[in-house]
Amino acid sequence: MGGRLNNKVALITGAGSGIGFACARRFAEEGAAIVGLDLKRNEQWHELESISDKVLFLEGDVTSLEYQQGAVGEAVERFGSVDVLVTSAGIGDAGPVHMVEEAAWQRVIDVNLSGTFFSAKAVLPQMMQQRSGSIVTVASCEGVVATEGGSSYNASKAGVVNLSKNIAIDYGRMGIRCNALCPGFIETPMFDDVLNQEFMADVKADIRAQTKLGRFGEPLEMANVALFLASDEASFVTGQAIVADGGYIAGHSHGIVEMMGLT
Ligand SMILES: NC(=O)c1ccc[n+]([C@@H]2O[C@H](COP(=O)([O-])OP(=O)(O)OC[C@H]3O[C@@H](n4cnc5c(N)ncnc54)[C@H](O)[C@@H]3O)[C@@H](O)[C@H]2O)c1
Repeated sequence: MGGRLNNKVALITGAGSGIGFACARRFAEEGAAIVGLDLKRNEQWHELESISDKVLFLEGDVTSLEYQQGAVGEAVERFGSVDVLVTSAGIGDAGPVHMVEEAAWQRVIDVNLSGTFFSAKAVLPQMMQQRSGSIVTVASCEGVVATEGGSSYNASKAGVVNLSKNIAIDYGRMGIRCNALCPGFIETPMFDDVLNQEFMADVKADIRAQTKLGRFGEPLEMANVALFLASDEASFVTGQAIVADGGYIAGHSHGIVEMMGLT
């Protein structure tokens, strides 16, 4: 067991799956008490409960501010503070603007952007009282650079990036840091739902080719970046969009160096 988050309490939304779960497990390994929020408890979460006794799972929907405020209250009652917030709850959506139904637009904004806003709104009074805290929002590299057919999702994530910078500006004076983690394409259930459909095979291959490391990311690789941002090791890092995407948005690649023999 490490100890980079010893005596810290981390509240993690979307903790039941993918990047959120990887953060919960990695942070627990580093000594943090974990308060997980998600729509429902699943097998993965039971696995976490079997390796740490400082875990609390609270079922609910992040689009409810009341639920998130209640979770902060329970976290403080059970563990004494909230030192870290990771907002990983999120949903995908796709389509060019004229094809996105109003309800789908509203849902992705509600979960991805308003859900993140409610998480921050729920924990900030506690962090202000403590005069310390680290908030890691999980945005996306598609919140930094737009990608084809991603209008609603990308807009929600761009909102998360700027909201995170604003939180950094407004609360830095109180010792509260906030950074947006911007993953590239990471193999999680959300990734499977979108990219493992048969008709997406060519798109998936193209995305892998545009990811300069030539592969997709692992949830643990995101958890390791979130761990750094959450921990005191990142004590002078705030207001940043930290892109962890295997080079996907670094620039375009057209096969020129391959043509010159670089393989
Ligand atoms: N996987 C990727 O390639 C990728 C890339 C960039 C950004 N992201 C972002 O990372 C975050 C985590 O995604 P993931 O890939 O781990 O997906 P995932 O589907 O594995 O996990 C997301 C979790 O959020 C939960 N969730 C969804 N709506 C919720 C709600 N209303 N209230 C509470 N919980 C809710 C889900 O139940 C699920 O457990 C998301 O915000 C996603 O947009 C993922």
